[in-house]
Amino acid sequence: PLVSMKEMLELAKEKSYGVGQFNLNNLEYAQAILQAAEEEKSPVILGVSEGAGRYMGGFKVVVAMVKSLMEEYGTTVPVAIHLDHGSSFEACAKAIHAGFTSVMIDASHGPFEENVAITSKVVELAHIHGVSVEAELGTVGGQEDDVVADGVIYADPKECQELVERTGIDCLAPALGSVHGPYKGEPNLGFKEMEEIGSAASVPLVLHGGTGIPTHDIKRAISYGTSKINVNTENQIAQTKAVREVLAEQPEQYDPRKYLGPGRDAIKATVVGKMREFGSSGQA
Ligand code: G3H
Ligand code: ZN
Repeated sequence: PLVSMKEMLELAKEKSYGVGQFNLNNLEYAQAILQAAEEEKSPVILGVSEGAGRYMGGFKVVVAMVKSLMEEYGTTVPVAIHLDHGSSFEACAKAIHAGFTSVMIDASHGPFEENVAITSKVVELAHIHGVSVEAELGTVGGQEDDVVADGVIYADPKECQELVERTGIDCLAPALGSVHGPYKGEPNLGFKEMEEIGSAASVPLVLHGGTGIPTHDIKRAISYGTSKINVNTENQIAQTKAVREVLAEQPEQYDPRKYLGPGRDAIKATVVGKMREFGSSGQA
């Protein structure tokens, strides 16, 4: 069923595993991720950035596509449709009214008081609709659609606690050195801060920039209260590699199903691997 992230993440925190957020880019992503979740008996979060939402034809199209696929597949595992890095109250409201079950308001780039104010407003609307809210503090490095960071700023543990208490958010993404897109070398995550934030803040934590984070870091993050791990780039790399292979072997090929199909299989295999790594397999 289509649900918010609230219970999904609270259960994950209690039982010490991570739920993957896998971003949608088109139909094949939705198919691959929903199939992987059902086969693995894993809860799953479908992440939709504003840019990807536009690309797929708008939030309503995304919701209709996901709902029809779930009906077709007879999906039994919990699925959330989540706005990834919502840039404004308006964007969150649009997603909520289109039927998203979860939103992220990313007001981390502005002053703290502004972040509190915008996030509170989103929480107020979202909770009326039974929609969960994720907020961010600090800056995730790298680039993702319209979100460009020019430096990595670590989240402040005191501000994290205050943001949670004053806004009533359901989960928190404290930026602690993770990066969108591939890492240059090994990631250097702020585990000291993560541990502090995880025990001070009562809500589950979110780890952005999941691509390229080694398994031992994933396990450590989960042990400090991280219950949601976002992965996008890794699926894109796997898909594109598979498409390139087909086109290199068959330069005359022009049937999109012949290369997008293997691309879809590659996404599915990547997602299955992540669900096992995060420990969410068999939890739904
Ligand atoms: O919000 C989505 C992510 O944080 C994905 O990061 O593309 O590095 O896996 P990634
Ligand atoms: Zn992110």
